[in-house]
Amino acid sequence: MEQDAFIHHRPHWKTHIGFLLAAIGSAIGLGNIWRFPYLCYKNGGGAFLIPYFIALFVVGMPLMILEIGLGHKMRGSAPASFASISKRWEWLGWWQVIFVMFGIVLYYSVVISWCVNFFFLSFNSGWGQDPNSFFFQEFLMLSESPFAIGDLRTPIICSLLLVWFLNWLIVFSGVQKGLERANKIFMPLLLVLTAIIVFWSMGLSGAKQGLHIYLKPDFSRLKEIGVWMDAFGQIFFTLSLGFGIMIAYASYLPKKSQIVKDSFKISIANCLFSLFAGLGVFSILGYMAHTTSQDVREIVSQSIGLAFVAYPKAISMLPYFSHLFGLMFFGILVIAGLSSAISILEAFTAAIIDKFHYPRKIVISVLSLLGFLGGIVFATQAGLYWLDIVDHFLTQYGLVLGAIFECIVLGWFYKTKILRQHINHYSVWRLRRWWWDISIRIITPLVLVVLFISSLVKELSQPYGGYSWVAIILIGRDWLIYTLFFAVIVAVHPWKVEPRERILLS
Ligand code: PHE
Repeated sequence: MEQDAFIHHRPHWKTHIGFLLAAIGSAIGLGNIWRFPYLCYKNGGGAFLIPYFIALFVVGMPLMILEIGLGHKMRGSAPASFASISKRWEWLGWWQVIFVMFGIVLYYSVVISWCVNFFFLSFNSGWGQDPNSFFFQEFLMLSESPFAIGDLRTPIICSLLLVWFLNWLIVFSGVQKGLERANKIFMPLLLVLTAIIVFWSMGLSGAKQGLHIYLKPDFSRLKEIGVWMDAFGQIFFTLSLGFGIMIAYASYLPKKSQIVKDSFKISIANCLFSLFAGLGVFSILGYMAHTTSQDVREIVSQSIGLAFVAYPKAISMLPYFSHLFGLMFFGILVIAGLSSAISILEAFTAAIIDKFHYPRKIVISVLSLLGFLGGIVFATQAGLYWLDIVDHFLTQYGLVLGAIFECIVLGWFYKTKILRQHINHYSVWRLRRWWWDISIRIITPLVLVVLFISSLVKELSQPYGGYSWVAIILIGRDWLIYTLFFAVIVAVHPWKVEPRERILLS
């Protein structure tokens, strides 16, 4: 009786748009703003959109439909959903949620906290005349090597505390009052701020040259395999696939749901946002190149270099309201980051609640505390190195391996047909076998295997990023192995209510 009550009280989205915004909020993250535009520039400009959109339709969207369909059918988090297929596969769901919770979100929150710091620094261009040495030497106080941990960086720790407080507050308040409400504020705000930044930047002198570099198509580059690998690699990360997030979010949907249509909307909104944000990023780089009479190519950089070095430099050069511009830019990064971080926390929280029936408020409070404590290593003077190595291993190997297994389990053991029929049951847009089944059973796993092997070959030929092998093995590889180890341990622990019964009861 008590169990029935528990199952029937599974939270659900209040509105359909609330679900869409939360899923889009998870997908749109730091990667859309600092990684996509760079990849586009590096891989043939506008021509890169061809492999990118092919990747979206051939593997991204089918996997999105798969995850949303799975969570919807099994009405459970990733571990509960995989366990409902067979107990043998429960570890896979745990592995996904464990390596994002005890890996990705730890350093992701630290990067958000840098953005919080830079948000406040924007009030008086606190990065001074030389943002490069400010960022590495004054702000991070970067040490010599990953094992030279040095001291804690107080400003980073303080803002990390704030970030975890916000993470906690949102997920603590539940699906409707927390996640849904936060995304209903975050997403429109993100769009408005981004639109202002984009149009503002596009009006600056030199913007045209920047946009030219960003989008001018060079179709000859499409012959290179590396360009295609970048496109396929980016699609999984940017859509937050392979982390168990969309599975958990879809488990809160009502029975009558348009899974195909929603997956389409989420994926397209995410990719268009990337493209749009890139217009702003490259316009301002063009402006900076124009002002300093440099070539745009000399100043573009990716990820951290773009957000915390190139951009602050450009902001300081703006003729009017430069502080306001800085506040908006870093505000955008904080919002995009937070809406992704909370989705990770929810994926893990849902998994724990499904299996152990602990109260949400306790689960999320403990998790937030652990998340903050686990992030401390990334807030030391060697933090950037750790972040770089852990990120490399979790995204290049953890994510890819997890998604390969996901396709194999659902495509071959469970049979895509059963899930396709479930999805089509309420769908206005129907899934076709030739597209979906073939993608899940053959194309997506093949693409992932190629990505995996090529990363491995590169890895073995030289240590990633010029770090020592010891650092690579102890920090990167072992991090991944520990998460797998814990996943197996949690998976063998008995359920309070057997996963199959959970679905029948719900
Ligand atoms: N999709 C997010 C981005 O592009 C990243 C992310 C990864 C979000 C993992 C959630 C989980 O930045």
